[in-house]
Amino acid sequence: MLNPFKFDIGVSGNFFRDREDTIKELLVHMKNETNLIIFSKRRIGKSSLIKEIFENRLDKDTLSAHIDIYAISNDRELYEYLKKGIEQSFVAKESSLDVLSCLTQKLSDYFSNATVKLSVSTSPTIEITTTQKNYFEAIRDLFDGYFAYLEATGRKAIIAIDEFQKIVSLPEGKKIEELLRTIVNKRKNSSFIFVGSNRTLLLPMFNDADRAFYKLGIEYRLSPIDTDVFYAWANERLQRKEMFMEKKAFDYLFNESEGETRFMQMFFYKIFDMFESKMIIRVKEAKAILDEFISNRQELSIVLDTYSTNQQNALKLMAYMDGKSMYRKDVLERYGLSKPALQSALKSFISKGIIFENGSSYEFEDAEFKMWLRRI
Ligand SMILES: Nc1ncnc2c1ncn2[C@@H]1O[C@H](COP(=O)(O)OP(=O)(O)OP(=O)(O)O)[C@@H](O)[C@H]1O
Ligand SMILES: [Mg+2]
Repeated sequence: MLNPFKFDIGVSGNFFRDREDTIKELLVHMKNETNLIIFSKRRIGKSSLIKEIFENRLDKDTLSAHIDIYAISNDRELYEYLKKGIEQSFVAKESSLDVLSCLTQKLSDYFSNATVKLSVSTSPTIEITTTQKNYFEAIRDLFDGYFAYLEATGRKAIIAIDEFQKIVSLPEGKKIEELLRTIVNKRKNSSFIFVGSNRTLLLPMFNDADRAFYKLGIEYRLSPIDTDVFYAWANERLQRKEMFMEKKAFDYLFNESEGETRFMQMFFYKIFDMFESKMIIRVKEAKAILDEFISNRQELSIVLDTYSTNQQNALKLMAYMDGKSMYRKDVLERYGLSKPALQSALKSFISKGIIFENGSSYEFEDAEFKMWLRRI
């Protein structure tokens, strides 16, 4: 029997637990061609949400490009990734070679300083090759061409740029922000979705009046999947092996992981795989599996070792105190920290996007790191 849970790749279709209200709300903005900024802590399901919408919820005629720029490190790579996304948007839902060949010819009229070719070696791909040596110009030409095509044909497109905060860390990041702003403002028949989990870097891009992306879209904070809905969905799948998880066990895991969707999915995957049928999972079993899982995350100690002793103690303190009442005298003493030392560590973690300042409390961007810190 195939495992009905997936945790190691973005999900859609059968593996995707509906976020019906969210999808409805976002689709309205997309129809209005309004830009969106979607953010949340890590591994809540932003990329999967985009994947599900693009694969299953858009009209067949709407083009979509989901471009994850996490791995880029310069303007050339940014161009390559954007280009690939746009190329794929043409072929994603079209398999007829006749249609694609016709489309390729047509596209040559719109993309200047570039050649457009159809390649059919494995699966059909449309390849746009620029003659520009300057990648800023190449990015500008790419979008000019795309928008001109959309306008002329009346087709619509949605372009999602995932891990968007990466832009900030690029050499010439500011210049790239400005270029992209010009492009986004010139868009035709289309809208952009900017997705990111590093809120410390992402949100100021859109909220600081002196930044290029100021007020360039509607912010949408993606929450964890509703507990009751998630619980029912997971048990329905566990039942395929006549297994059952008690609500208390589910709540325990959900609280520990702060509703991290990937973690919950991985947990379900494991128990579906590990246990014989008719198993009932209570808090005791859930806790034992969780402890074992966390103790196996040895690689996190390498991450911890990259920090100074004060910073390591500060991380443990924050994890233990759940980001609250951290400056209590007895707490500081327990971790051998002074108030200024904790403040300075916090400042550094916030700037690196490890910790997010949420009102008067502090949250770990990565719930698994926090769970691990609490257990060492
Ligand atoms: N709606 C959903 N239904 C079921 N599982 C989901 C859903 N959304 C996310 N997941 C699970 O969570 C995992 C992480 O999701 P995803 O990669 O979409 O999150 P993310 O917020 O983009 O993470 P990151 O911050 O690391 O980019 C997926 O691999 C999948 O197992
Ligand atoms: Mg993601």
